[in-house]
Amino acid sequence: MRKNRKKEHVENYLKTTFKGDNLFDDVYLEHNALPDLNLSDIDTKLQFLGKTIDYPIIINAMTGGTDFAREINRELSLLAKNFNIPMAVGSETILLCEDDVCKESFKVVRENIGDEGVVIANLSGHATIEDAKIAMDVINGDAIQIHLNVAQELAMDEGDRDFKGIINNIEDIVKNIDKPVIVKEVGFGISKDVAQRLYNIGVRYVDISGHGGTNFMEIENLRNRNMDLTELYSWGIPSALSLIKCRELPQDLKIISSGGVRTASDVIKSIVLGAEIAGISGEILAYLVHGGYDNTKEYLDALTYKIKMIMLLMGKKDIEELRSAEYKITGQLKELL
Ligand SMILES: Cc1cc2nc3c(=O)[nH]c(=O)nc-3n(C[C@H](O)[C@H](O)[C@H](O)COP(=O)(O)O)c2cc1C
Repeated sequence: MRKNRKKEHVENYLKTTFKGDNLFDDVYLEHNALPDLNLSDIDTKLQFLGKTIDYPIIINAMTGGTDFAREINRELSLLAKNFNIPMAVGSETILLCEDDVCKESFKVVRENIGDEGVVIANLSGHATIEDAKIAMDVINGDAIQIHLNVAQELAMDEGDRDFKGIINNIEDIVKNIDKPVIVKEVGFGISKDVAQRLYNIGVRYVDISGHGGTNFMEIENLRNRNMDLTELYSWGIPSALSLIKCRELPQDLKIISSGGVRTASDVIKSIVLGAEIAGISGEILAYLVHGGYDNTKEYLDALTYKIKMIMLLMGKKDIEELRSAEYKITGQLKELL
């Protein structure tokens, strides 16, 4: 059942048509007509989870557990290796009760990326400390993501209905796992209040994964035709809003910006608004399934070129300078703030 569901998520993601808005368009960055820089000197390298990565991008959690998922993870991890960017595997809950084929679909990611790269484990908020240890061991994880997916579960016929005790569970994992724990949404956003509660129990990494990209309300509605959930397709905190509000918390809370991140402008704006790095899932998956490895590499080649291009146009030579860039908020984002 779980294996089938993971396959349907990929297939149904590609069928979704609702266009959400992450509100990054409401962030205005100023042009610098006189940057005293050479494009070849623009430095996009940064430190993430104790390792040097080449761009502030992560291929975010998607899949694992089946032959089909193994193939996707194999190609995603080769891309992550090629660009020296981190990758998170999809939920490993499936491997806790499954066979060796299932394990292989996750292991392949570390094998391809090697010890010098960043690989991140992924489990649900119901995971035990033992589960977290297994999930980390299989891929020799640099960190573990714990996903919060209440909206998705409620949209699923077979999904969870009881969300009590998850915060206590996360606290146990944070206290007993010696690597960073990243708490993430799956496309509905993290509010400042939720980030504060996570911070209070010791979480120092959140991935806001806001509204504006992959829409699990629609993905699950395509699986579960018993109920029309269209009115809830717009549910969730737009990514830019979620990021700005969470950034009001102390600087030692590291934020990953995701949810509808597709372009170099989305990545740059994420960093300017205070994220460590930006996560991309759906857009990369669409390129991979429709165009294969080469086409996805072309997308990432263009994306990374445009990141450098925008940095030069802003007169910022490295990621540290980019973090201190000024910006203005306009439109709906301004109203919501
Ligand atoms: C097909 C698919 C499967 C996903 N599976 C997982 C998962 O297993 N665990 C998880 O934390 N997030 C999962 N996500 C959510 C993504 O990690 C991300 O938070 C979300 O898609 C928003 O980013 P995007 O708009 O760039 O896709 C999945 C996303 C997609 C498209």
